[in-house]
Amino acid sequence: MSTRFAQYLDPVKEAELADIAKRLTAPGKGILAADESVSTCGKRLQDINVENSEENRRKYRELLFSAEPDLNEHVSGVILFDETTKQSDSSGNTFISVLEKKGIIPGIKVDKGVVPLAGSLNECTTTGLDGLKERCEEYKAMGIHFAKWRCVLKISKFTPSYQAMIENANVLARYASICQQAGLVPIVEPEVLPDGEHDLETSRRVTEEVLAFQYKALADHHIFLEGTLLKPNMVTPGMQSSTPATPEQCAVATVQALSRTVPPAVAGVVFLSGGQSEEDATVHLNAINNVPLRRPWALTFSFGRALQASVLAAWQGKDENIQDAQNELLKRAKANGEASLGKYKGDQGGAAGNKSLFVKDHAY
Ligand code: 13P
Repeated sequence: MSTRFAQYLDPVKEAELADIAKRLTAPGKGILAADESVSTCGKRLQDINVENSEENRRKYRELLFSAEPDLNEHVSGVILFDETTKQSDSSGNTFISVLEKKGIIPGIKVDKGVVPLAGSLNECTTTGLDGLKERCEEYKAMGIHFAKWRCVLKISKFTPSYQAMIENANVLARYASICQQAGLVPIVEPEVLPDGEHDLETSRRVTEEVLAFQYKALADHHIFLEGTLLKPNMVTPGMQSSTPATPEQCAVATVQALSRTVPPAVAGVVFLSGGQSEEDATVHLNAINNVPLRRPWALTFSFGRALQASVLAAWQGKDENIQDAQNELLKRAKANGEASLGKYKGDQGGAAGNKSLFVKDHAY
């Protein structure tokens, strides 16, 4: 072995990371993002008039994770919030063990949230590197095998700036490196927010630029790409745009942006839903998987809002609605699993179907 390059990860760790990433993106499967912080979960609960108590958050997560039959048919992994990793179902089984028993890989949000990027035009970065190594090692010992860190980039006349793109790409790369050393597959999430009046072309060009910064930073930090997942926005016109685009046009723009910037070594791309309605997110994912361009990676989902809106609407905090709410989750998971194979027929509308889930300047 040349001494010019250090061996950053040992081959056993590399093989383990590649295997986790591969299982997370198994054909027809995707990820349930249930990592809402206490305050974000509170906003979801408030919408259905449920108090934001620790017990209600626990109950809601139990509803999600105990959906039967076969949540694991279309869900390969679940992203948890720290509080949830310490909670158990009503029979006393930890949520981590409940997921493991179903063959679903537990994951964890490790960032500490979006903060202002000083010296910029209202742009941001994400904090959480302090103590990250120790936290990742603890999570790994608990049976957690992948992680998420979200950065946000904003489209306006002068943004995203060079400053924001380089800073966010770099902090994501440092997070990814720490995760891999600890045996966690990092989900790298540089989200270009959908807020704005911009058209599809602008969205594609900005997404492309952000991803180019991202993969340069990952290379600079010696990241083992086969043991990573990318969680990008789909390329769509801004939420306030006056020039709409069809799902097919969005899909082509999305695959173009990815194919120009994301190396084929990356294990998979797991899209966020970004405030699209449940149905729109599924239809877009399906169209993406039918684009006649080269697509060397799995293209699947890691949805939060677009997997949970119908569930919350059906639940309303009532025990007698739990089964109905779980059925909504299974229905959305199946629809998105089919969409990840390009086989969604548009026949799985849920209780929140076409309702926009857009939240201005969305924080998680
Ligand atoms: P949405 O699917 O609600 O955009 O969220 C996914 C996520 O995990 C964002 O970090």
